[in-house]
Amino acid sequence: MNNELVINAHPKSQVSEAIKTIRTNLQFSQVDEKIKTILITSSVSGEGKSFISSNLALAFAQNNLKVLLVDCDMRCGRIHEIFNLSNEKGLSNLLIDDIKKFNTYVQKTEYNNLFVLTMGSVPPNPTELLASEKNKKLCEELKSKYDLVIFDGVPMLDLTDSLVMAELVDRIVVISAYKQTPVEMLKNTIKSLEAFRHKIAGVVVNKMPGSKSKYNHYNRYYNE
Ligand SMILES: Nc1ncnc2c1ncn2[C@@H]1O[C@H](COP(=O)(O)OP(=O)(O)OP(=O)(O)O)[C@@H](O)[C@H]1O
Ligand SMILES: [Mg+2]
Repeated sequence: MNNELVINAHPKSQVSEAIKTIRTNLQFSQVDEKIKTILITSSVSGEGKSFISSNLALAFAQNNLKVLLVDCDMRCGRIHEIFNLSNEKGLSNLLIDDIKKFNTYVQKTEYNNLFVLTMGSVPPNPTELLASEKNKKLCEELKSKYDLVIFDGVPMLDLTDSLVMAELVDRIVVISAYKQTPVEMLKNTIKSLEAFRHKIAGVVVNKMPGSKSKYNHYNRYYNE
């Protein structure tokens, strides 16, 4: 068992409680429309996108939603490692195949209601694949087959990839890390997402130090 899945390994920890709060806030933000797709992004590398998207996906699955977690970091994704799955074929391979066959690429996890599409083989042209019409169609298809699709993205430094994915989803959650994310970088990220401002569900401040748990976490919602 990978102990990064704190929602499962340490359900009562502060970080698990914080992840459930993100889940609740996202649930309450669907006043006029149902949220079916969420992109997790951040400013720089290592702020906790994969950690939070995995735990958030599990938290939603525990709420009886059929959830698909998609690793769209086709350069160095590690969702397969977190869930101990094969990465023999994943998103990159599906995008050069017939997308109607997505079922043969999606893997079951050991958790009820939770499915994963890993990154796949590292392609020479990840940006082109994400920006393709096929990817757009795939997102629509997945949206119709799952209650919720969570995309583990890349940092905003890879601007094109992030903006392409931002366009496709219903909501965006921006991860920042306490004492790690340069404030200017976070400001730039928010500025770059200006066109999608209405989709930003919140900015999560991850890796906050605290006394009770190894995994500490605090989230604050973006409203300015
Ligand atoms: N709240 C937390 N508490 C403890 N460790 C954490 C927390 N969030 C993330 N980490 C750890 O920090 C490291 C980086 O996290 P992660 O891989 O999720 O970042 P990322 O934003 O996906 O990085 P990349 O941009 O490289 O994909 C991992 O080892 C992860 O387990
Ligand atoms: Mg990651």
